[in-house]
Amino acid sequence: MPVPTKLGYDEAGTGPVLLLIHGFPLDRTLFAEQLKGLSDIRRVVAVDLRGRGKSPSSDLEGVTIDTYADDVALTIESLGVDKVDVGGLSMGGYVVFSLLRRHPGKVASVILIDTKSQADGDEAKQGREKVAALVREQGTGALLDTLLPKLASPSTNDAVLGKLRTMFEATPPETAAADALAMRDRLDSTGDLGSIVVPGLVIHGEDDALMPLEGAREMADAIPGAEFVAIPRAGHVAAIENPEAVNSAVRKFLA
Ligand code: MLT
Repeated sequence: MPVPTKLGYDEAGTGPVLLLIHGFPLDRTLFAEQLKGLSDIRRVVAVDLRGRGKSPSSDLEGVTIDTYADDVALTIESLGVDKVDVGGLSMGGYVVFSLLRRHPGKVASVILIDTKSQADGDEAKQGREKVAALVREQGTGALLDTLLPKLASPSTNDAVLGKLRTMFEATPPETAAADALAMRDRLDSTGDLGSIVVPGLVIHGEDDALMPLEGAREMADAIPGAEFVAIPRAGHVAAIENPEAVNSAVRKFLA
């Protein structure tokens, strides 16, 4: 198992930490609007998972979602705090589930954005292997044609599409391949939902084509006391497609 590594991040604000974990094949800049819009109530920390952006690129061999969670736990310690409010978008949500299993004492509350608790089925697992092979051969940008239209809502504007494209292209192929294989092997977290004891918020883009809204509502229903907020004019990357609505839901939750 790879050795835990301290992650790089962007931060803004002071006070209790809100730590945000991006999806695939993205990076910390996904949360630029959360850094701007929530820094008056939290020290907002948006991490780069290993192998991209400001984080070390070594040791991608055999990484799992648990490796990513251990990296986040080490990063939380390095921030000098005991626990954080943690938010994860899509793959970032998978990391949040692992963090809850492996480092529950470090989590004050959870915000699950455009994600799901189920593991991959057999067909999806095979798809991950194709994705890993494709990016290794042709670069992460090769995913743009198939994945980008599924990520964004039809109402998402060109500026947001451009930012997503930039993140795809900045993610090294070996990192995207490691992400894909880590997602292939992730555990099913559905059975854990009923035991989440910290406050929970589930946020989901109304037009999410990858993970239907109804599934997210069911996930929220399974987490004791969790709140659910549907985000209009957003697909699978609500944090960047409709940041005002996402920030307003997070602000209300954290208050
Ligand atoms: C993501 O947005 O992080 C990924 O699409 C999640 C997944 O493929 O399961």
